[in-house]
Amino acid sequence: MKVLVTGGAGFVGSHIVDECLRKGHDVVVMDNLATGTRNNLNPEAKFLEMDITDPRLINVIREEGIEAIIHQAAQSTVPPSIKDPKFDADVNLSGTINLLQAVRELQLKKIVFAGSAASYGMPEYVPVDEKHPQRPMSFYGLSKKVIEEYFQMFHELFGTQYVVFRYANVYGPRQGQSGEGSVISIFTERMLTGKTCTIDGDGGATRDYIYVGDVARANVEALESDVNGIFNLSTEVEVSVNEVFQLLSEMIGYDQEPVHGPARIGDIYRSVLSNDKILASSLTWRPQMTLAEGLQATIAWGRSFYGADRS
Ligand SMILES: NC(=O)c1ccc[n+]([C@@H]2O[C@H](COP(=O)([O-])OP(=O)(O)OC[C@H]3O[C@@H](n4cnc5c(N)ncnc54)[C@H](O)[C@@H]3O)[C@@H](O)[C@H]2O)c1
Repeated sequence: MKVLVTGGAGFVGSHIVDECLRKGHDVVVMDNLATGTRNNLNPEAKFLEMDITDPRLINVIREEGIEAIIHQAAQSTVPPSIKDPKFDADVNLSGTINLLQAVRELQLKKIVFAGSAASYGMPEYVPVDEKHPQRPMSFYGLSKKVIEEYFQMFHELFGTQYVVFRYANVYGPRQGQSGEGSVISIFTERMLTGKTCTIDGDGGATRDYIYVGDVARANVEALESDVNGIFNLSTEVEVSVNEVFQLLSEMIGYDQEPVHGPARIGDIYRSVLSNDKILASSLTWRPQMTLAEGLQATIAWGRSFYGADRS
């Protein structure tokens, strides 16, 4: 299939590009390099430096002969959305609607979209399943929530085939320092370069960390399948910041103690997403990487990327 991967110069998108190519698809990457980098671009994919909000988008998709879309491009973090909700909405709502219109008008086969656990807000119970109320606590979470309803309505009105994945905390090689749930990439960089790590609060806060390669496999299988709907994408394994710190320290051979800063206001203490729905679906996807394996892969990448080898 000829697949457009938006955000393919970013962290998650670049792994999806690799997976699409591995599965034999033709790939076109669309990215405006707002947070992505040219280093992440796979040379086997065609690169279009373009904004998803661009009104010429539909013509470009038509000219490229795109058959399906995996949409990762986004204003991808919480703080900028609080500072500038309009910009967040321009990219995450209008940009996505621009793509949905192209899918509709060109009758593309499918669109797979990166939603977020941020659309749930504070968990009322864990593990959080797809029926859990969505009460986001940021404009980023709100735009991820609202756009899901556009996918559903495009499906109801025009038969648009779609999958939305609500990602847990994605980690792995190529992750930057400022993304959602980037504690693993921050600690990895700091430990490999001999800096002190700061843990916000008591370190007991938990997250569900999913390896980026597992996220990429789910996206490509969803694109190839006839499955529609909204699914959590998670490991359903709850891990605390202290555990992440401990595991990384041991693997890297880092012997400094962490500094404890104040807990971040409004931070969620426990977060873990149920993956029952996807496991019960006709998708064969299962998370494959254990946290230990994923951390090893992240460290191996970090050693070459940060030019530090303390082993
Ligand atoms: N990383 C996580 O833990 C996580 C968790 C939940 C959801 N997500 C979602 O997954 C997707 C990928 O996130 P990521 O962590 O790889 O972030 P990222 O910032 O590395 O990737 C986003 C990419 O989109 C590009 N982009 C931004 N605005 C654009 C625009 N207007 N037009 C074209 N390209 C644009 C950026 O340059 C970047 O390459 C995002 O939709 C994000 O909201 C990520």
